[in-house]
Amino acid sequence: MKKQYHYIRAGVIALLLSAQATQAQNTVTFRSDAPTQTINRNIYGHFAEHLGNCIYGGFYVGDTSHIPNTNGVRKDVIAALRKMKIPNLRWPGGCFADTYHWKDGIGPKDKRPAIVNTWWGNVTENNSFGTHDFLNMCEELGAEPYLSGNVGSGTVQELADWVQYANFGGKSPMSDLRQQNGRQEPWKVRFWGVGNEAWGCGGNMRPEYYADLYRKFATFMHSEWKNDHIFRIASGANSSDYNWTEVLMKNISSGLIEGIALHHYSVIDWNRKGDAVDFTEQQYFTTMRNALFMDTLIRKHSAIMDKYDPKKKIALVVDEWGGWYNVEGGTNPGFLFQQNTMRDAMLAGATLNIFNNHSDRVRMANLAQAINVLQSVILTKGDTMVLTPTYYVMEMYNVHQDATLIPIDVHSNDYTLGNEKLAAVSASASKDKNGVTHISLVNIDAHKTQEVTLDTRGGSYKSISGRLLASAKLQDYNSFTKPDNIKPTDFKGASLKNNTISVKLPPFSVVVLELR
Ligand code: AHR
Repeated sequence: MKKQYHYIRAGVIALLLSAQATQAQNTVTFRSDAPTQTINRNIYGHFAEHLGNCIYGGFYVGDTSHIPNTNGVRKDVIAALRKMKIPNLRWPGGCFADTYHWKDGIGPKDKRPAIVNTWWGNVTENNSFGTHDFLNMCEELGAEPYLSGNVGSGTVQELADWVQYANFGGKSPMSDLRQQNGRQEPWKVRFWGVGNEAWGCGGNMRPEYYADLYRKFATFMHSEWKNDHIFRIASGANSSDYNWTEVLMKNISSGLIEGIALHHYSVIDWNRKGDAVDFTEQQYFTTMRNALFMDTLIRKHSAIMDKYDPKKKIALVVDEWGGWYNVEGGTNPGFLFQQNTMRDAMLAGATLNIFNNHSDRVRMANLAQAINVLQSVILTKGDTMVLTPTYYVMEMYNVHQDATLIPIDVHSNDYTLGNEKLAAVSASASKDKNGVTHISLVNIDAHKTQEVTLDTRGGSYKSISGRLLASAKLQDYNSFTKPDNIKPTDFKGASLKNNTISVKLPPFSVVVLELR
């Protein structure tokens, strides 16, 4: 009897342990009744500022460099970003944008003035990468340019001239100047930012004052050289500054604005950001909590926008987001260079799921920043290039670009640490123009495999395949010596039966499933 009791107890313990290792109550259910919308490809946009080695050394090495280049832009970078399907690129800042005078960056390179980059390390900016270099590079990348105009230290005339220079096809002082500088046809730039972080580095303004200034700048960006598709984006709120959104929405009439920005970085503490690689589970947890807060931010900013714009004509543009840690030891503190680990893959995957699921209002977003700065998709050193875990998430998720959102309900187990908990599983789903369904799933749990039951509600599928991004440790990353440490692999953890899918998501992993 005693022996039998021991067997039963051992069996119960084994059951409990296996239930802990893999829990079964996660569900993802397609909501076939709900309205559908397109996931704008611009949600997958990027950001390139004149900051550290993002432009110089990152994108641009100059046409006399030994590093293979096209008009000075690295060929390896162009190929990688094209493969990732970069849809748009924001430039030249950030804080730099409100100090940037675009006429410094046109004409013969040896005649361009050298200035001091006061925001980022007080380094000399020789202006060798300017408007033509950027806009031609965007054409090479197949990405739409997003120009950030200078409101903080610029003038209405200066920004109006830039629009005319880039967009006007007829005869005018600015189109003549453009043609003298070697470009006949206008680039027809659609996306224009009207200042950046006007509440901070863009001028420390109050929202009432900025709203008036915005109206003035935007008015002259919409003049006789307008192209009909110009898309003006107001400098938006800092994270949960809901009053900023309220004041702008109330005071800027709808005919003057197409988008309103929002910036949110996942930072543990602005005074103690922690190391990008050598972090604890508590730091990981805090980063993820701050990343998942994006959902609340979007809901609350959108609710304010809904009051003034119920038809959702104005887009919420999250044009700066990502993880921000201490700079790598021995690097210039003003250059914001940080490594990129599986933590960043979790952050990217979970955030992109949030954007997809809110794609009715969020129609553009820009990860900060593309190369060598903050949460980069690419790191460069001399002639070598590393693709980060974040790159691979962006590349895996590009199947959602311009696909139709499939609204879903997600019920997730908790990922707990001490007394705190977060939803372990997040997901988003879409159907592309060929009728192929994709579901992206993220398990942020640092320890447990999560079993997910996916109910497609009558969808009829014949095959399932998938890709997985995972690694042994959360702190793992791709280095210049081990660039292929983390890469997507084929995913074998999903099975399809009667249109219900069972998925086993390893701890801290990203999976993208394809259903046909
Ligand atoms: O991305 C780095 C900086 O963060 C940007 O220049 C600024 O807009 C933000 O504060």
